[in-house]
Amino acid sequence: MKRNSHIRLPFQMERASGGTALLERSQSWAVIAITMVSAVLVWGNPAQAADSIWRGSALSPLPNASSDIDLRKVQLGEEMFHDARLSADDTISCATCHDLNNGGVDGRQKAVGIGGAEGTINTPTVFNSAYNFKQFWDGRAESLEEQAAGPVHNPSEMGSNWPDVVAKLKKDERIVRMFSDIYTDGVTGNNIVDAIATFERTLVTIDAPFDRYLQGDKTAISVEAAKGYELFSTYGCISCHQGVNVGGNMYQTMGIMGDYFKDRGDVKDQDLGRYKITGRESDRHVFKVPSLRVVAHTAPYFHDGSAETLEDAVRNMAKYQLGRNMPEADINAIVAFLNSLAGDYKRFDPR
Ligand code: HEC
Ligand code: HEC
Repeated sequence: MKRNSHIRLPFQMERASGGTALLERSQSWAVIAITMVSAVLVWGNPAQAADSIWRGSALSPLPNASSDIDLRKVQLGEEMFHDARLSADDTISCATCHDLNNGGVDGRQKAVGIGGAEGTINTPTVFNSAYNFKQFWDGRAESLEEQAAGPVHNPSEMGSNWPDVVAKLKKDERIVRMFSDIYTDGVTGNNIVDAIATFERTLVTIDAPFDRYLQGDKTAISVEAAKGYELFSTYGCISCHQGVNVGGNMYQTMGIMGDYFKDRGDVKDQDLGRYKITGRESDRHVFKVPSLRVVAHTAPYFHDGSAETLEDAVRNMAKYQLGRNMPEADINAIVAFLNSLAGDYKRFDPR
């Protein structure tokens, strides 16, 4: 896909490339096994371990948005993202649920839409979503453009439709002018989506302390966070959460090493994951592995919003994805590492 062409950095591992995204589940077992075996092999010598993890890292710094992005579209998209006229009763904008001053989320267990309509699933962040290989927890949207039409039409989100939205916006001369300056056909559903998606491609959190560490500044993160990075690799978290977005490039089952849904109980439609799309038994409870870039700011966690803190989320991941009972000290170190993954969101400046 064209928009991803600028994210391939020369030192990026093969494993973090698009190929991994297409791994079948059986292959993903192999990835986990290989990660664990290599972890054991280097475990004996910490210095060597750190060095080999460093060179073999499946993580790489988050690139900035492309500098040839159309800034007029970015500006228009930013307006549309904050415009409540995209909802049926003019009360809810994209930013209501994806608060850019609050990690790009709503901080709730599950989303709440127009008229207080209860959503069924936790709101993921919009930050760095341009670097995810698919959109939504179950990956049902191929692109940001395809995704953006979803909430507008979802009855428990914005509950509207393009003809209504376009009719409202066409009464606003300033908005009409902004559209006609960029698009020959003016205000249309497609153009709203195009502008919003362009704006979303600038919602990147570059210059994270961890990225500066990867680029050679060994003092950019704490000793504990560096230890957490090592643990993240040796435990095998990195076999699923990898690449520039520390996730967002493959599908995996929630509960590979333990029956998460049996333990939690009350299994609902939204827990089925990709099964709902493909109908394949092997896709039951399979989700997009989420990016961990801004997890420091996006509690509560998981598609069901069940983990209140990052510590809870890490503990559950160790248990259900790796079959490990993780000691508190290791959990805390990994949380320190996760906290170092978030850069600051700066309004996009192409220089
Ligand atoms: C009522 C709250 C709400 C509103 C309003 C809303 N969203 Fe969302 N957004 C969500 C939820 C919940 C999900 C996850 C849905 C799912 O995966 O099934 C989501 C998912 C997304 C994703 C996918 C992120 C990922 O990592 O998969 C993007 C991008 C996004 N929204 C952008 C937008 C845009 C753009 C708008 C406005 C047009 C918008 N959202 C309006 C709640 C909301
Ligand atoms: C087998 C693949 C796999 C492994 C290994 C794995 N994860 Fe995950 N991780 C996932 C999937 C899939 C989800 C989404 C689960 C859901 O929402 O139900 C997830 C979700 C998360 C979340 C919540 C993100 C959010 O935005 O809600 C965190 C934090 C996390 N993982 C951290 C870790 C850590 C730390 C480790 C290692 C101890 C780890 N993961 C190991 C696949 C994996």
